[in-house]
Amino acid sequence: MKKILLISVAILAFSIIASVTLAPSVAHSQKTAKSLLPVIPENVMKTLKASCAACHSNNGGGMASGSWNLDAWSTYSATKQAKKANAIYKAAKNGSMPPSSFSGPKPDANQIKDLGDWATSLQPKK
Ligand code: HEC
Repeated sequence: MKKILLISVAILAFSIIASVTLAPSVAHSQKTAKSLLPVIPENVMKTLKASCAACHSNNGGGMASGSWNLDAWSTYSATKQAKKANAIYKAAKNGSMPPSSFSGPKPDANQIKDLGDWATSLQPKK
C-alpha cells in the first residue's frame, strides 16, 4: 500500500516538473525556429494595421509596400527593422503619413508615443 502511494506521488511530482520544464522549451524552440528578432508589440501592431497596412502590406501599392511592408517585416534584418521603425515613427510624428488622402484613422498622440518607444527599443545598444 505504501509502495503504491509512493509511486503515485513520484508520478505526480514527475508530471508537474515535466509540465513546468518542457512547456517553455517547446515554446522557445518554436520561437527560435521562426525568428530571433523581436516581434512587433501588440499596441504598435494595432496602430500599424489600422493606419498603415492598407498601403504598407502585400495588399498595398508597390510604392508604399516597397518602402516598408508589414507582411514582410519578419524577413527584415535587425538593422533594417531599426531603420524602418525610426522612419515609421518620424513619418507618423510629423504627419506625413498616413497621407491626407487616407480616410482611415490617423495615429493619436499616445499611439505615436508608442511608435517612438518601439523604434527606440529596436536601435542597436551602444
Ligand atoms: C494611402 C496609402 C498609405 C497609407 C495609409 C500609409 N502610407 Fe506610408 N507611404 C505611402 C506611399 C505611396 C509611400 C511611398 C511614396 C512616398 O514616399 O510618398 C509611402 C512611404 C512611406 C514611408 C517612407 C517615406 C517617408 O516618408 O519616410 C514611410 C516611413 C511611411 N510611408 C510610413 C507610414 C506610416 C507610419 C503609416 C501609418 C501611420 C503610413 N505610412 C500609411 C502610402 C501610404
